[in-house]
Amino acid sequence: MIDPWSSAVIDYENLVEQFGIKPFKDMLNDIEDPHILMKRGIIFGQRDYGRIVKAMRKGLDFAVATGMMPSGKMHIGHKMIVDQLVWYQKKGADIYIPIADLESYSARGVEFEDSRKLAISEYITNYIALGLDFKKKNVHVYLQSENKMVQNLAYLLGRRVNLNEMKAIYGFNGSTNISHLYVPLVQVADILHPQLEECGGPKPTVVPVGPDQDPHIRLTRDIAERFKSRFNFITPSSTYHRFITGLTGDKMSSSKPKTAIFLSDSPEVAEKKVKTAKTGGRESLDEQKKLGGIPENCSVYEMLLYHLVESDKELEEIYTNCKNGTTMCGECKARTSGLMRKFFEDFVIKRERAKDLAEKVLSKD
Ligand code: TRP
Ligand code: SF4
Repeated sequence: MIDPWSSAVIDYENLVEQFGIKPFKDMLNDIEDPHILMKRGIIFGQRDYGRIVKAMRKGLDFAVATGMMPSGKMHIGHKMIVDQLVWYQKKGADIYIPIADLESYSARGVEFEDSRKLAISEYITNYIALGLDFKKKNVHVYLQSENKMVQNLAYLLGRRVNLNEMKAIYGFNGSTNISHLYVPLVQVADILHPQLEECGGPKPTVVPVGPDQDPHIRLTRDIAERFKSRFNFITPSSTYHRFITGLTGDKMSSSKPKTAIFLSDSPEVAEKKVKTAKTGGRESLDEQKKLGGIPENCSVYEMLLYHLVESDKELEEIYTNCKNGTTMCGECKARTSGLMRKFFEDFVIKRERAKDLAEKVLSKD
């Protein structure tokens, strides 16, 4: 069982085998101008992504829905989701971004007022600064607590889901609070409501998420089947990305500041964090020259791979020079931390510029 609210590390191989997630790479050849996260295998899995590929190729309507629970500051790992949204926006998708304040209230005890503040100062500000265009009509961002259409749909769908099922999927038990019990249905409604007539009717929908969210996806797909005759739902598709490793080598997590580079960090702080990150280097320089480093175990390399190097050729050179012991970690860190600093120098300005619009976005609809 996968518990979406725990922080356990995920076994990616097992996911594919046990739960029937399909490899993403099978789709790559059919995608025009795939995102680097796709090309680099960071997006590793999918369900029914063929529908989305087809919609993109034929220029048909399709939607993307993916949300975040406002429980703290956004870190650089969260950037991956936004990067994908920006890509889908260019592909012409309708974009739905729930801010899961019902979830963070029920599962984490965050008050609605605090969620709203975080939604504006962190989430929406970063989304804009990372390049999502909220001025386009087809972007819908909302707080779950304020979206009546979603709430009503959740309630309606709940009629055909029972407690035993929720226990089996999520490990809920007698002491689970009732609000928490209901949270998955709201997420199901987040994902399915773009297909209601009010939102333009049935259409392929993709949900890009981390694998911890797969229980919600499986539930959504089941429920979509159960209500097919009533709403004509097209079973939603999904993609799964690897999480970025934290600076310490553990999972990157907002609740453990030592592991994370926050999107609100200053360029100096971000630079320094890269310099102190755990690498895949050897004990001594001699050893590293002889054996080479291990980029697969290196959080510095991950920053390059996920975020900092656009060119595949350049990345390959870095990889090879690490592997064959040509580059030493000191030099590599200096370069990477410099790139990180540059990214943040630019990003600080973009965040500043995003602030005014971020204040207005939630009252748009
Ligand atoms: N549960 C997600 C999280 O923990 C947030 C979320 C809410 C979501 N609604 C969604 C994700 C719909 C994908 C699709 O971050
Ligand atoms: Fe990581 Fe660079 Fe050292 Fe290789 S050389 S292990 S990529 S820091």
